[in-house]
Amino acid sequence: MKNLCAIYAENGPPSATIQIESRERPQPQAGELLIRMELAPVNPSDLNMIEGTYGIKASLPAVAGNEGVGVVEALGPGVDAAWLQRRVRPATGTGTWQQWVACPASDCLRFPASLSAEQAAMLYVNPATAWRMLHDFIPLQPGEWVIQNAANSAVGRSVIQIAKAQGWKSINLVRRPEVIQELRDLGADAVLLDEPDSLPAIKELCGSHAPRLALNAVGGESVQLLSKAVATGAKIVTYGAMSKQGLRLGNGLLIFKDLSYHGYWVSRWYQQAERNQIDAMFESLAQLNLQIPVAAIHPLSEVREALAAAEQGRRNGKILLRLNE
Ligand SMILES: NC(=O)c1ccc[n+]([C@@H]2O[C@H](COP(=O)([O-])OP(=O)(O)OC[C@H]3O[C@@H](n4cnc5c(N)ncnc54)[C@H](OP(=O)(O)O)[C@@H]3O)[C@@H](O)[C@H]2O)c1
Repeated sequence: MKNLCAIYAENGPPSATIQIESRERPQPQAGELLIRMELAPVNPSDLNMIEGTYGIKASLPAVAGNEGVGVVEALGPGVDAAWLQRRVRPATGTGTWQQWVACPASDCLRFPASLSAEQAAMLYVNPATAWRMLHDFIPLQPGEWVIQNAANSAVGRSVIQIAKAQGWKSINLVRRPEVIQELRDLGADAVLLDEPDSLPAIKELCGSHAPRLALNAVGGESVQLLSKAVATGAKIVTYGAMSKQGLRLGNGLLIFKDLSYHGYWVSRWYQQAERNQIDAMFESLAQLNLQIPVAAIHPLSEVREALAAAEQGRRNGKILLRLNE
């Protein structure tokens, strides 16, 4: 029995480097689940892993993909039967862009049954990052503003929906005017273009209650705008670098506003979190019924086309891989 996998044997341009390999379908060993994979997104970090530009490196050859879901089809000896037919995320490090995975049940995450396969496939990385950044840096008060750039990304859309549900207000910066109405409809309190001219409008909106928390996934000039928009003493959290430019900052902002700059990596949180904390976060996220749009779903056999599509900016949602028909 075969297991088609999307693998990379060297680092390089993602759509040119990825290839399909046929391997033996794994057998679940003691304590393991056999998972028939359904769907997996193509995230920026997956592309960076293949390029070799991410913060960690895979030992090669590697099956690509960090998140995704499948259904438990068989159990190894000693595994509780309650796992059968559940929708799960396989253990970290197994590579999700393949048809079948066998891995220890203790390292798999069960998703609440109320989630669709598509939304469950996209929950582990981006909504979780949004949830953690909104909860772990500042105890936000009801009605308080937060500000973010790349607001139409999967993380950004999660921030909008979580903030709305928790009673916080969001100012959202985007580089394309055509997404403004869509984000308003999603619950954004304000959506503005990510450009210096937007500063007066932000100041007018917030008055004397400027944001104490800013979330940055762009870098470059955009951080200057965030830094000018926030309150004295605010925290500016960098979690992405979509512009591939370093943070640009005026010295005076650091001297006179007492701002603090932080980095965030959700993988570190997962490494340190207790299992019950992770489960509790997914319960909370599932109750919010977040909606992350999907731009296209490609079969695994078209993984190169999927990666080429994901490498394009100005998409209307995530690119997903369908791993089994
Ligand atoms: N640190 C962590 O733990 C963590 C966790 C999750 C995600 N991330 C990072 O968060 C970022 C967003 O991830 P995602 O999966 O939510 O993204 P996504 O849904 O794939 O969307 C990408 C976003 O980046 C914007 N963008 C692309 N190129 C840009 C550029 N040159 N300048 C400014 N904006 C640009 C896009 O705007 P357009 O639609 O206008 O192209 C879009 O808003 C990525 O950098 C990712 O690596 C980090």
